[in-house]
This record gives sequence, C-alpha cells and structure tokens, in this order.
Amino acid sequence: MKKVNLGNTKIRISSIGLGCWQFSGGKGISGRYWPKLKVNDVTEIIRISLKQGINWFDTAEIYGWGRSETALAGGLHALKVKPGDVVIATKWFPLFRRAGSIISTFPKRTAALDGYPIDLYQIHFPGSLSTIPSQMNKMADLLEQQKIKAVGVSNFSAGQMRAAYKALARRGMHLSSNQMRYSLLDRSIEWNGVLETAKELGITIIAYSPLAQGLLSGKYHEHPEDIKSRPGPRKFLKQFKQKSLEKNRPLIELLRGIAEKKKKTPAQIALSWLITRHGDTVVAIPGASKPSHAQSNAEALNIRLTSDEIERIDKLSLEITRGK
Ligand SMILES: NC(=O)c1ccc[n+]([C@@H]2O[C@H](COP(=O)([O-])OP(=O)(O)OC[C@H]3O[C@@H](n4cnc5c(N)ncnc54)[C@H](OP(=O)(O)O)[C@@H]3O)[C@@H](O)[C@H]2O)c1
Repeated sequence: MKKVNLGNTKIRISSIGLGCWQFSGGKGISGRYWPKLKVNDVTEIIRISLKQGINWFDTAEIYGWGRSETALAGGLHALKVKPGDVVIATKWFPLFRRAGSIISTFPKRTAALDGYPIDLYQIHFPGSLSTIPSQMNKMADLLEQQKIKAVGVSNFSAGQMRAAYKALARRGMHLSSNQMRYSLLDRSIEWNGVLETAKELGITIIAYSPLAQGLLSGKYHEHPEDIKSRPGPRKFLKQFKQKSLEKNRPLIELLRGIAEKKKKTPAQIALSWLITRHGDTVVAIPGASKPSHAQSNAEALNIRLTSDEIERIDKLSLEITRGK
C-alpha cells in the first residue's frame, strides 16, 4: 500500500486519506451540501478507512462549524484510536478575518478535535483580510511552539503558493501542501502552474473532490435521476446535467472497461490514476456518504495500473477536460 511523505516533513501519509466534509451534520451552508450522517455510520466509515490502511483525515472549521471535527474525534475515540496514532489535517476559515484569528481561534479547533492533535493546519482559501505573509507568520508561530507539525494552504494559485512558501522560508520553515480540486474531470492544476510549482518546491498536492463528487463512479451516468433525491446543490450543477454526463460518458466507459478486468470499479480506477500519475506529489481525499464508499475508496490504495492504462485514461480525460 502506498504511503508518501507530507511535503518535506517526516510525516508519512497513505496516498488516500479520508475527506470529512461529509461529517458536517447537515449544519451551516457547507454542511447542508451532504446528507446528515448517523453517528454509527461516521464511526463505521472511520473504522473501515483505518482497517484498509488509511492513516489520515481531512476536516475543517467551516464543515458544520466544528461539527465535522467533533464527529471525527468522536469516531476515533469510539474506536479507541490513540491521539498521535493518526494524522489530522484541519483548516482555518479565513473569510472576513485577519491573521490574528489563526491564533485566537486555535483553542476552539483543538477543543473540537478533543485530544487529537492537529498535524497539518491549512488556510482554507485565499480570502483573509491579511496578507499571505502575515498569515504564514502566524502559522510559523504555531509551528515554532510545536502546536502543529506542518503548514498547508488550499485553493492557492501558483503565485499565492509561492508567496506562502517564501514567507515560511524566511522563518526557516516549509510549506507542506496545497489542497486543490483535482480529478480526471478537472485537470486545471496541470495547466495553471499549480502542479508544476508544487513539484518544483516539494509541496504535496492534496486532491479534493477526486471523484468529481460522485460522477467518476459512473452511478449518475447510469441513473441520472438519482441526483434529484440528494440534498444540497449538486443537482443544480452543470456537471450533473445530461449534456455533461454524455460528454464524459466515454471516459466512464474506459474506466469501467479497465476496472472490470481487475474486478474493480470505475471510482477505484479514477482514484488509482490520481495517486499514480504524478508519483508522490499527489494524494487524494475522497469523501464518503456511506461505509461502502469508504471501503471501495480505500481499496484503491492497492490497485496497480499499467503505464498503458495510465496513458489511455490520461489521453481521453485530457480530450474531454481540455475541450471544456
Ligand atoms: N479545500 C477545499 O476547498 C475543499 C473543497 C471540497 C472538498 N474538500 C475536501 O475533500 C473531500 C472530498 O471532496 P468531495 O467530498 O467534494 O468530493 P468527492 O470525494 O469526489 O465525492 C464524495 C461523494 O461522492 C460519492 N462517493 C464517494 N465514494 C463513492 C464511491 N466509491 N462510489 C460511489 N459514490 C461515491 C458520495 O456522494 P453521493 O453518494 O451522495 O453521490 C460522496 O459523498 C471532502 O470531504 C473535504 O474533506 C476540500
């Protein structure tokens, strides 16, 4: 099973982690995106993920305003996982806030995580009222005080990532990760400079929405009506409409063909492609609405794609996404 170092740290993470936005409890704007999961299902999703070799979890302050962090910690406690035995990544919410809030809100984050230390602390997106260097200086303070082990950003462009990297470097520290939307249906980081810059600076790309929010499983191609029964705004998004589904269908068919030969699923092949194509630079954090999703997604850690399979997927996905 594949493990990589997070940025230039010694922290070893499985190439697939668990995205915990789905644990938001249906609260707040971001929480209403997903169904409200039962506590038992959250615990089961975590249990299966750990059993299959996943050793890290991505959550955020904005996911139900702390409810995702609390649910994650609750599940880990129920499973008797010792603090320090798993890697925890969470994110500060920067909107309408200055960098000082990184420090002043930190105790709330640790309280929500109930004894599980924050390993990777990320800026959720570049929306703060303070400059990137100011934000990085506060993150550097947390690193210096050993309150966190690594600093990450999310949704940062190549230039913003470089600015964050430089600010931390001035304090003798390193930017470990940039969490970006990346999947076979959204490859923009390959042509906007983010992936190239990450490779140059030794920064891990954490791919979010790696299944294009369920599309790469092929289930919405088979049953397009199903999205209407899901809570949240996905049903209104262009990519879930018939026209987009038809455009992507050849890619789903290719994934299905490769999957069937290996007794796997299109979703698993899509995840395997993502964590293989760029060596150790890219890791993925699929979210799960059900325990069976967690099982399937974690199993992708053990798939081996041939170079021919990687190239065929690569070529067709580029034809589809470049034409967007
Ligand atoms: N930094 C950021 O700005 C940002 C933004 C978005 C997400 N994230 C992080 O990235 C994580 C993952 O992204 P995401 O949740 O947007 O998208 P995703 O992982 O691509 O999709 C997750 C959804 O796809 C469906 N699904 C998952 N596994 C499946 C499987 N094996 N078979 C069939 N369907 C499956 C489920 O929804 P249905 O069953 O309802 O279809 C699930 O809730 C989040 O949990 C969060 O931690 C970060």
